[in-house]
Amino acid sequence: MPEARLTDFDARAQQWDDAQKVRRAEQVAAAVRRAVELHPAMTALEYGAGTGLLSFALRGVVGQITLADSSAGMRAVAERKIAAAEASDLRVIDLDLTRDPLPATHYDLIFSMMTLHHVADVPGLLGAFHSMLNLGGWVCLADLDTEDGSFHGPGVPVHHGFERSALRSWLVAAGFQDAAVQDCCTLEHHGREYSVFLATARKS
Ligand SMILES: C[S@@+](CC[C@H](N)C(=O)[O-])C[C@H]1O[C@@H](n2cnc3c(N)ncnc32)[C@H](O)[C@@H]1O
Repeated sequence: MPEARLTDFDARAQQWDDAQKVRRAEQVAAAVRRAVELHPAMTALEYGAGTGLLSFALRGVVGQITLADSSAGMRAVAERKIAAAEASDLRVIDLDLTRDPLPATHYDLIFSMMTLHHVADVPGLLGAFHSMLNLGGWVCLADLDTEDGSFHGPGVPVHHGFERSALRSWLVAAGFQDAAVQDCCTLEHHGREYSVFLATARKS
């Protein structure tokens, strides 16, 4: 598959889930659980949920989870998995916060995995997350540390990971408290290893 196709999520949705991505989701879910005290009364939104790997890994730990994604192909696969699992605690919505108005619903937790680097205006997205959280709610965001651009290859319009200090500053500027960025896991891609952080912050 040519590199530019890496961001064609509709085309990749059917083949998205594999053992490596399932393991990554389990590692990120474990990091989220270590970082934030979760409980089944919490409502949650996964932003850029794709096929819902991370939401499935956090099922039961929190309450109702809404899986948001802008790719119809990803949403269709997530819907199929939810139906197969008879998972009445999971639902899927079409949401692109760079395009859509802010939804009226508020959540106790917003989490995402490997989605931030696809969004041009990350400070704006963090502001939207802050608006969508209930007081006391948390964001938990896993993404790539700064990399040399080799993850997606040349000419792909994505962030080449993030400086942790920049992300922390954007969280604070968006109004969050207790912003922290810590090691989460590593992932292998095209024979190279990339480090992934987990950023957490609270709305108070
Ligand atoms: C690299 S994939 C990660 C999917 C999933 N989180 C995972 O790790 O398996 C990025 C996901 O973000 C979604 N996405 C990209 N830009 C988005 C946006 N502006 N709003 C909502 N979803 C977006 C894509 O459709 C895709 O499903």
